[in-house]
Amino acid sequence: MAKVGLREWFAVGKVIASGHLARYSGVGEGPLTRFEAAYSEKFGVKHTLAVSNGTGALISALAAAGIGPGDEVLVPAFTWIATAAAPLAVGAVPVLVDIDQTLTMDPVDILRKITPRTRAIIPVHMANLVCDMDRIMEIARQRGLIVIEDACQAVGVTYKGRRVGTIGDIGAFSFNQFKNMNVGEGGAIVTNDDRYYVRARMFHDVGAIFRGHLDNENEPHFFGVNFKASQIQGAMLNVQLSKLDPMLTRMRVRYRMMSRVLASSQAFEIGPHNDVGNAVSLHVIFETAEEAANFVASHRRGVYRLYDSSRHVYTNWLPILEQRAAHPRMNPYQWTDARIEYTPDMCVRSLDILQRTCRISLGENYPLPLVAFVARRLASGGDPARQVSYAV
Ligand SMILES: Cc1ncc(COP(=O)(O)O)c(C=O)c1O
Repeated sequence: MAKVGLREWFAVGKVIASGHLARYSGVGEGPLTRFEAAYSEKFGVKHTLAVSNGTGALISALAAAGIGPGDEVLVPAFTWIATAAAPLAVGAVPVLVDIDQTLTMDPVDILRKITPRTRAIIPVHMANLVCDMDRIMEIARQRGLIVIEDACQAVGVTYKGRRVGTIGDIGAFSFNQFKNMNVGEGGAIVTNDDRYYVRARMFHDVGAIFRGHLDNENEPHFFGVNFKASQIQGAMLNVQLSKLDPMLTRMRVRYRMMSRVLASSQAFEIGPHNDVGNAVSLHVIFETAEEAANFVASHRRGVYRLYDSSRHVYTNWLPILEQRAAHPRMNPYQWTDARIEYTPDMCVRSLDILQRTCRISLGENYPLPLVAFVARRLASGGDPARQVSYAV
C-alpha cells in the first residue's frame, strides 16, 4: 500500500482551513471533484464517482445497474465478504463460483453456475491479481450479463494494458487502509455508461435530486442511501493517486526479480497469472496443504497461506451461509423462486487451492538488494532459525 505522510497531512489541513469538509458544503470545485476528474483521466474512463467505501461502491454499482429481487449475482468463493453481501443489499442473492489457480473466478465454473435468473457477474481482482477478463467479458456478452468488476484489492493494476475496473460495465474500488490507495476509508465507482453514472450518483446521495443528480439524462428519480465521500477523503485521495503508479512500478520490478529467483525452487510452482507481463502480486503453489503450512511456519514474515487469512474464504461468511438478514422480512432469499443453499463443501476446489497456496509480499517499500536476499532464502527453503524478516 502507498504510504500516508506529510503531503496528505497538508492536503487535509487545507480542507479544514477552508471550512468545507462535506461534499456539498462549498461552491465550485473541491478536492473530490478534482479527484474524480484526475482518476477518470488516469484510468481512461468517462465517469468516476467517489463514495464512502468499497462496499458502498459495489452496492451503488448494483443499484445503478438495476439489479434486485429475484436476480442472482455470481461472486467468487474467495473474496472479502462485502462482495457477496452487496447483492443482498439490493435484494438479489449471491451465487458462489470456484476460483482457479490464478486465485480469481474460474470461467469454466461461471458457465456451470449461470441460471435463467443470473443477471450479473462480479469478478474480483483479488490481492492485486487480475481475472481472466477476456473470457469473462465474452461469457457475459454471450449471455447478456452485466459485469461489475470488484477492483477493491487491485487499484490501478492493469490487465492487457487496461486498468482493472474499467473493462466491465462498472468498476468498484476501495481506498481503505489496506489497499493500494489508502485514505483510511474510501471508495469509488467508474463507468463509461452515462445512465449507470447518473443512477449511481442519485442512489449514493439518498435521491437528493435538488443537487443536480439528474442532469439531462431523463432518468426517473428514486431514493437511495448515503454513501457520500467527504472532502477530507478527497484531499487525501489526490495525494495518494500521485503515489499509485510509482508504487505499482516498484511492485512490478520486484515481481519480476522475485519470480525469477523463486522459479528455481523445487518445492513449489509460481502461481499462474492472467497477465504475467504486468504482474504485481506473487503466489506460490505447493503439492500439499502441509507443505504450504510448513513453508509459512519456517518464514516469519512476508509469507502467508491464503487459507489462513480465513476472512476471505467463503466458509467463514456465516451470515451469508446461514442466510440471516437484519429483519426476517427483508431477506432476499425469500424473494427468489430458486432454492439457494450454501454448504461448506460447495466450492471444495477453491478450498484445496487456498490450502496449498502461499502469498509472498513483494516488499515494495524495501530496497531491491534486500528483496533479492529474501527471495534467495525463500527459494532455498532457508534455515528457520536464520530467516530475515521484512514487513508486508
Ligand atoms: C475484494 C473486496 N471487495 C470489497 C471490499 C470492501 O471495501 P471497503 O472495506 O472499503 O468497504 C474489500 C475491502 O476490504 C475487498 O477487499
